Amino acid sequence: MVSIRRAEMQDLQHMQHCNLWCLPENYTYKYYLYHGMVWQSLLYVAEDINSGRIVGYVLAKQDEEDEEGTKLEHGHITSLSVLRTHRKLGLANKVMQSTHRDMDKIFESHYVSLHVRVSNRAALGLYRDKLGYETFDTEEKYYADDENAYNMRKWFRKKPEKQ
Ligand code: ACO
Repeated sequence: MVSIRRAEMQDLQHMQHCNLWCLPENYTYKYYLYHGMVWQSLLYVAEDINSGRIVGYVLAKQDEEDEEGTKLEHGHITSLSVLRTHRKLGLANKVMQSTHRDMDKIFESHYVSLHVRVSNRAALGLYRDKLGYETFDTEEKYYADDENAYNMRKWFRKKPEKQ
């Protein structure tokens, strides 16, 4: 059985391990600590109750200014992953919905943004079809290996006219 819960400081190292198994985009432990200290209410983990292992996580934060320099409070998904052994069980969907709820209700975010590789079929299926994200922009050679990224957004509040 897997439980979805808010991350605690002692989970950060396990979130980092999960990230290292799942994604080529990795971060220093200091960056996890920053998220944990400043944005703890937005971090969620999926924990396998039997083993106590962290099998999935979402690392997220809030930003005030968007790419256009407009002040519009919004959330940002820094990283999401679920171990191969636990995929297709709805865990990513659940941790994402939990952080979305907090961005919306606690921080009154206008929207949430993220970057994703244009070839990442599984993540695009989740973001577009399940969670209602739209492509805002394509960023050329965003990743270290030159792959392009979709910059995606999901709106919690009314989209301003010019967006
Ligand atoms: N192919 C197509 N669509 C998929 C796939 C897949 N392999 N996996 C999930 N989806 C879509 C489906 O729409 C699915 O809904 P359904 O089950 O009703 O069909 C929906 O996503 C929800 O699936 P979950 O079970 O919640 O997703 P899962 O827990 O398996 O995690 C994830 C999905 C996070 C993309 C996982 O495959 C993973 O960890 N991949 C490697 C890391 C990664 O790519 N992370 C995202 C990078 S972008 C970023 O971090 C901001």
